Amino acid sequence: MKCKLAIIGAGPSGLLLGQLLLRAGIDNVIIEKKSADYVQGRIRAGVLEQGTVDLLREAGAGRRIDDEGIVHRGLELVFGRCRDRIDLQGLTGDGAVTIYGQTEMTRDLMEAREASGGLSFYEAEDVRLHDVDGERPYVTFMHDSQPYRLSCDYIAGCDGYHGISRHCIPQDVLVEYERVYPFSWLGLLSDTPPVHHELVYVNHERGFALCSQRSASRSRYYLQVPPTDRLEEWPDSRFWAELKRRLPDKLSQRLVTGPALEKSITPLRSYVAEPMQYGKLFLVGDAAHIVPPTGAKGLNLAASDVGTLYRILKKAYQENRFDVVGRYSEIALRRVWKATRFSWFMTSLMHTFPSREEMAFERRMQQAEYDYYVNSSAGQKTIAENYVGLPHDLVD
Ligand code: FAD
Ligand code: DHB
Repeated sequence: MKCKLAIIGAGPSGLLLGQLLLRAGIDNVIIEKKSADYVQGRIRAGVLEQGTVDLLREAGAGRRIDDEGIVHRGLELVFGRCRDRIDLQGLTGDGAVTIYGQTEMTRDLMEAREASGGLSFYEAEDVRLHDVDGERPYVTFMHDSQPYRLSCDYIAGCDGYHGISRHCIPQDVLVEYERVYPFSWLGLLSDTPPVHHELVYVNHERGFALCSQRSASRSRYYLQVPPTDRLEEWPDSRFWAELKRRLPDKLSQRLVTGPALEKSITPLRSYVAEPMQYGKLFLVGDAAHIVPPTGAKGLNLAASDVGTLYRILKKAYQENRFDVVGRYSEIALRRVWKATRFSWFMTSLMHTFPSREEMAFERRMQQAEYDYYVNSSAGQKTIAENYVGLPHDLVD
């Protein structure tokens, strides 16, 4: 088998990249180790930047998000007794985000790929990359007990943080940057109406809380919990009681509770691997970087990597500009570090840091930082322009 691009992983990065390239006439094959149902069912992100929505449209998978996505033009921050709205639209000159679950985006992209006849192998086993720094890279894997060999021009490692692609970059080339935060997020999805029409990020002395949503009748809530906590320790009743305690009275009184459709615990970390390319291999999305979810950047950053690689490969194949291929890492990393900074800033601002020795001082610094940002038009604008998403870099 042969194709221009082998794509490892059918998460949002792999599916979006594959679909954009198919539409540009650049053939590709996706190899995924899990089943399509498993990939589609993973409850994760829910806030899409405009740049991500635009890419979905360009991929021919934007019809349903245009109909069903909920546009949010503001969000709220709560710190102690202060409750402040960040006017995304007013502060950014018409900026907004769209509420649309990662599950839905994945489904739309899978359907679009199916309709365009793109080749995908789900439940592939023993996936291996070969000669990534040579002239003729190839991928081998097992599918339905049959061995396969896929020759390609390039390989896109879209296989997430636990994937194999990043490990193909030699240790003396790869530089890793990491911060692990001393808490996790416990998420709960329920068929209950959202407590507020916009998202609410809360810094309470008992810990962070987030009120998000998927639709007018489906809510997604998160609580900061110790990193050692397990799901069994959090029956629904305890989750709702804790959320009520962390919300301002007005919201707490309006909170509608119900059985959890899904609950999960996510540890928080910042991680960046440099460079994001080696020979004929590109790392895309979570394969190259992880951000803590405060600020909703993980999925959007994956999409902007995809946008960058898509524009580079289009230039290469359509305009014979293969000189730009070597610039992927440099271009992508500029935006990666800015989103890493914003996610770290939002995480530091909105969580309680239980074990900080100088806790009293740190808490005061956090209060002063909050006070400064929400009461300064420059501060508000900084939050707004990062939240709606910084511009995607062009490739010239
Ligand atoms: P992934 O979605 O991880 O996809 C990688 C794919 O590669 C997977 O399907 C995997 O099965 C496949 N794969 C792995 N190894 C191999 C292999 N060897 N061979 C073939 N295929 C392989 N972001 C937010 O913005 N907000 C959130 O609330 C949020 N919550 C999250 C909760 C969790 C538990 C996690 C893990 C992430 C969350 N994120 C969130 C981040 C966001 O979901 C990711 O940034 C996004 O999924 C990245 O997409 P991706 O395609 O790069 O990677
Ligand atoms: C959601 C997740 C986030 O990390 C965030 O900052 C906002 C919303 C969500 O899952 O809805």
